[in-house]
Amino acid sequence: MTNVQRGGRVALITGASRGIGAAVARLLASRGMRVVVNYRRSRDEAEDVVASIRSAGGGAMAVQADVRDGSAVLGMVEQARAAMGEVEVLVHNALIPYAIKSFDEISWDELGGKLEQEMRAAFLLTKAVVPGMTTRGYGRIVYLGTVLSRRPRAGMIALGTSKAALGSFARFVAEELGPRGITVNVVAPGPVAETSIHEATLDQEHRQRQAEQTALGRIASPDDVARAVAFYASDDSEFITGTTAPVNGGLAMG
Ligand SMILES: NC(=O)c1ccc[n+]([C@@H]2O[C@H](COP(=O)([O-])OP(=O)(O)OC[C@H]3O[C@@H](n4cnc5c(N)ncnc54)[C@H](OP(=O)(O)O)[C@@H]3O)[C@@H](O)[C@H]2O)c1
Repeated sequence: MTNVQRGGRVALITGASRGIGAAVARLLASRGMRVVVNYRRSRDEAEDVVASIRSAGGGAMAVQADVRDGSAVLGMVEQARAAMGEVEVLVHNALIPYAIKSFDEISWDELGGKLEQEMRAAFLLTKAVVPGMTTRGYGRIVYLGTVLSRRPRAGMIALGTSKAALGSFARFVAEELGPRGITVNVVAPGPVAETSIHEATLDQEHRQRQAEQTALGRIASPDDVARAVAFYASDDSEFITGTTAPVNGGLAMG
């Protein structure tokens, strides 16, 4: 038997070729789950994540799928089921690209397009995994949100608004799926170091300013976020559903 076939719950992590998703995949695997490392284009990076998990004794496989594409999503879940068994944990993390613009500058196509794609991906993935979770009477669904939904920052209206919609969707799904033993929660980070968006949009001075705005005096690492996701993905969070965990070092409280 290979590592992907034996033991442990099966966790599907979207956008796991780098950043937060890669950290989540490594952490869940280190805790005994068998992980599906989804990516869209970055095959080599995804294979590196898989190789590092396997060399540490864990079970992992990389699966290419654009999470906005219904048949690709169904194909990915089927591939995971065939190789590892039913997906019991979904971490939807993939970062759908968006325009960084002010309200004055952004067009409806840019804002509406992000909303549509963000919700479509969450909808398709959730639809694809819920039947298997229902059969098992067990499921953990975790979506990645953002502090920006509650604390706006210039240029981030498309991301903050679409993730707010995702948060509301999560609560509706949590309410409906609770009786089946499926929990649905959101992890909402503040700015996270070592991620593409962070490197691309913030210079050193802005990073320093953001760190100073947190109570803990620094911004998050991908591992900080992964630990919160791992809690929701575990049996320890059994009685918690429909919630949002702020992983922002005290940037926004309450
Ligand atoms: N970074 C932050 O500061 C921050 C703060 C708050 C919330 N978040 C949230 O955390 C999540 C992860 O962000 P990140 O910064 O870690 O992202 P990242 O470093 O940019 O990585 C994005 C990942 O998503 C994948 N991806 C993009 N489009 C995809 C698609 N259509 N289908 C499948 N995979 C796709 C990428 O794979 P390919 O390269 O193969 O396309 C990559 O693995 C996002 O939901 C983001 O909104 C991030």
